[in-house]
Order: sequence, then structure tokens, then C-alpha cells
Amino acid sequence: MEKLVSSWYNNVQPLPETYIFPPNARPGKLSTLPSSDNIPVINLGGGGAEGHDRTRIVEQILEASQEFGFFQVINHGISENLLHDTMDVFREFFALPPEDKASFFSEDPNKLCRLITSTGNYDRENVHLWRDALRHPCHPLEKFIPLWPQQPLKYREHVGKCSTQVRKVALNILDLISEGLGIGYGHFSDELSQETLLSVNYYPPCPDPSLTLGITKHCDPNLITILLQGDVHGLQVFKDGEWIGVEPLPQGLVVNIGYQLQIISNGKLKCAEHRAVTNSSNARTSAAFFIAPSQDCHIQPAAALINASNPQIYKGFQYKEFLSNYLMKQGNTEVVLEPFKLQI
Ligand code: OGA
Ligand code: NI
Repeated sequence: MEKLVSSWYNNVQPLPETYIFPPNARPGKLSTLPSSDNIPVINLGGGGAEGHDRTRIVEQILEASQEFGFFQVINHGISENLLHDTMDVFREFFALPPEDKASFFSEDPNKLCRLITSTGNYDRENVHLWRDALRHPCHPLEKFIPLWPQQPLKYREHVGKCSTQVRKVALNILDLISEGLGIGYGHFSDELSQETLLSVNYYPPCPDPSLTLGITKHCDPNLITILLQGDVHGLQVFKDGEWIGVEPLPQGLVVNIGYQLQIISNGKLKCAEHRAVTNSSNARTSAAFFIAPSQDCHIQPAAALINASNPQIYKGFQYKEFLSNYLMKQGNTEVVLEPFKLQI
């Protein structure tokens, strides 16, 4: 079990060499932006806004998805208590004694519920990431909940409720996006948004945050991601050549556009590159809920967005083809999309 950072970080100083990135890949400088230039915060009006409010929310979401590929939502309808309870069981999970976590640790990518460290490819990577992650599917709940941890005792109860509600918020945001894009209500329902995959990231306090990363620069491969980031800084978005920090909002959910939304919108919405940095004083826990197509789902740009002045820029493919290419390219943002572009 010595691979899991959460199990040994307390006894180790300085940062082990295998976690030190080459100089050009280290975190570097963070630009401090005036808050007006930062990731937009959108008030969802309790989740059921109508009329004028709804039109305004659709506009804000579209604008944020085009400019940043990232936004935060507040007033989304999920109670503060539930968010707290859920983040608490995640933190408690990573604080379990190493022997309790051992049964979940696996390097087999086919295992549905597993605890990994770094990228999950520990023996084949050059440098390790300063994080562990617990991963499992959440939807449909009855099918997957028996695979989840039973410790902490309330894990299944809180995470079950929270994942159901996060999925609802995500589907609502997808409806608002399809309205904004003008591609017909319900465009993203069914197969395109069939799965909810959870990755709970745990970044322990790090002896030297300037030398390593929690997650390297990437875009998410799925459709759309909802992230709970607790109250510790660490998430950064790459915009106009600079890294900007995403402010933790106690009741906010961070939303980001994945590759599939960029492709279906024929490039109108942008998936933004992001990463997670570590810090030396506080452990950071974040939970990413990835709304993803089914493996066999056919993906292609929405017909309504293609015309003489907006020619189709991506070809059609099966989601699993995209995923295997993503894994092979290790998320390298320069080349992931290449095989799916049409020559125009
Ligand atoms: C991810 C991710 C960011 C964070 O899990 O894909 O980007 O803040 N996480 O943990
Ligand atoms: Ni991500």
C-alpha cells in the first residue's frame, strides 16, 4: 500500500524525487485577476427559473461556456447540508487506516470501483502526481451502490443522495445549453448523458508545491463535469496563456465543458484546459462528477449548427473510440482532437 500518497505523506520530507516535475512542467506563476475577469458565477434561481430569468440564465451559461469553458453555479437547489455531509464522508474515506483502504486499491482499469494513486498508471509513468482518487460509477444508483465503500458508515447514503441531485443539476444545465445553442430541447438526454462517473480526488499537504502537481493540464473527455471543490484553493484554468485560480465558493458547484460538448456544438463551446496544484498547509478534497455518453454512443456535431458559414469541423465517431484515443495520448491537449477533425 506504500503507493497511496494519503497513506505515507505524513512521514515523508522532502518531496520524493519521483514526484518532481521537469522545470518546464512545474506549476509556475498564477495570474491574479480582478474578480470581474474571473470564472463567471451564475445564479440558477433555485433550479426552476422561468421566463425572463431563464432567458438570462441561458445567455450567461452560453457566454461562459464560449469564453471560459468554465463557470460556477449557485442557488442550484442542492442543500448546503448535503454538500457538507458528502464532502465529509469523502474526507473521512481518505483518513481511514491504510489497511482499510487497501481493499479498494487496484491497478486494474476494468474494476468499476477502485482507489488509485497518481494517474492510475504508476509503474509506467515518469513522474507521479501528488494525489489519490476514489472512482466509481453512480448512475443508475441501484446498480452501482452495492460496489461503493461501506466505510465511512454514511458513505452510501450521502453520496447516493448527492450524486442523484448533482446529476439533476447537470441535466438541467444541459437543457439550458441545448436551448442556448438552438439544437432542440432534450438533445443531450438519453445516451449522450447516460453515465455519471465520480472521481474523488485527495491531495494531501505537499512538502513542496512548487515542484509538483495534483493533476496536470488536461480537458475532461466526457460531456460536462460538475465539481465540488470544498474550501481549499487548487483548481486552475488556462486562459489566454495564463493560469487563473477558481475561487472556492462554499455553496458553489464548478461546471466545465468536456470534449464531447465542444464537438457536438461544432466548436461553439470550448472545453477549457485545467489542472490542480497542491499546497503545503491543507489537504484538499474535490469531487468530480463526470456526465458521460454510453460507450457505444455515436457522437457528432448537431446538424442544426452546421451551415455554409459554419462547416462541420469534427467527424462522427463512437464515444469509446474517443476514450481509447484520449488514454493513449494521455490527455495531451494538443493532439487529442486531431483524429476527429475533418479536413476543411
Ligand atoms: C478532474 C479535475 C480538478 C480538481 O478530476 O478532472 O480536473 O480541482 N479535478 O480536483
Ligand atoms: Ni478535469
